[in-house]
Amino acid sequence: MFFDNIFRKMLLPSSVVIAVLINGCEPPQQINQSSAQQLAPQAGIPKAKGGLRAPSTETAYALEYFEPTPENPEYGTLMVNDHAFLVPEGVPRPSIQSVYLLSHWEIKQGESVLDIGTGSGVQSIFAAEISDHIVATDISAKAVETAKLNVQRFGLQDKIDVRSPGDLFAPVKPDERFDVILFNIDYPSNQYTQFWWEIHERFFAQVRQHLKPNGRIYYQIGYIDNIPRVKAMADKNGLRIMRLRMDERLIFRRAPIVFLLQSEADVREQLRRKDIAYERQIEADKRRTDR
Ligand SMILES: C[S@@+](CC[C@H](N)C(=O)[O-])C[C@H]1O[C@@H](n2cnc3c(N)ncnc32)[C@H](O)[C@@H]1O
Repeated sequence: MFFDNIFRKMLLPSSVVIAVLINGCEPPQQINQSSAQQLAPQAGIPKAKGGLRAPSTETAYALEYFEPTPENPEYGTLMVNDHAFLVPEGVPRPSIQSVYLLSHWEIKQGESVLDIGTGSGVQSIFAAEISDHIVATDISAKAVETAKLNVQRFGLQDKIDVRSPGDLFAPVKPDERFDVILFNIDYPSNQYTQFWWEIHERFFAQVRQHLKPNGRIYYQIGYIDNIPRVKAMADKNGLRIMRLRMDERLIFRRAPIVFLLQSEADVREQLRRKDIAYERQIEADKRRTDR
């Protein structure tokens, strides 16, 4: 967030410098084309001239920011590929962390999605290419207003339910459960931002209650020193890390990191069933060779 603010205020001479300031890392290496790219671009946002180009990342997504124009002084425009997101001052723009998460979630048709800390609505809007049932939440009233505006501009009101502002799961009913939960909010990245752990701890404590059986969590934490604490929070709350994706070419330790987490109990049950199926197969093979 800090670096993003600097990016906002300064015109920097080189896109590489911008990349480092935003992310503290080189562009992510993972190449994972998402079909979400095919989402039809919405109409009506004239492309402002003189935008700053973020690095050409090796994710499936490129970011480009355009300052507010005299015709549209309230909103800057953040392009994620050809998708224009309106973002006013005070609402975080889609960042390298956002597109890294976009590149690493998998959502199957028919699955429901909860997007916590939706900001401009970017995760939900790309997810809506696949899912018809998305709930987006944010603690900030301005972010909620912005997400609603962007959802409307993409014509996705039927698929994305942007809830009234609220902390973490507060806008979600106690019995509402989802196949996929996306989480990319602010996170600790230095000694002054350790207070964010409290929110992440609460997220880990509550998230299983809102997961459907075999549900998946895609969680972005963006700072390499955070990994042990994420592991501890997962262990404490009955979650297993199934996958961790990050760019190995780290500079400054600050880089997008995406975890895939699942309920430990679900994983054990899946393994138990696979073991049974495997043993049955071996027995069947043995009977066949004995005959
Ligand atoms: C860095 S932005 C990310 C936005 C979006 N998820 C993305 O991938 O681009 C973080 C968002 O999380 C929201 N947020 C912060 N704390 C929150 C909380 N306790 N509950 C819900 N949202 C929160 C902020 O208001 C902000 O809009």
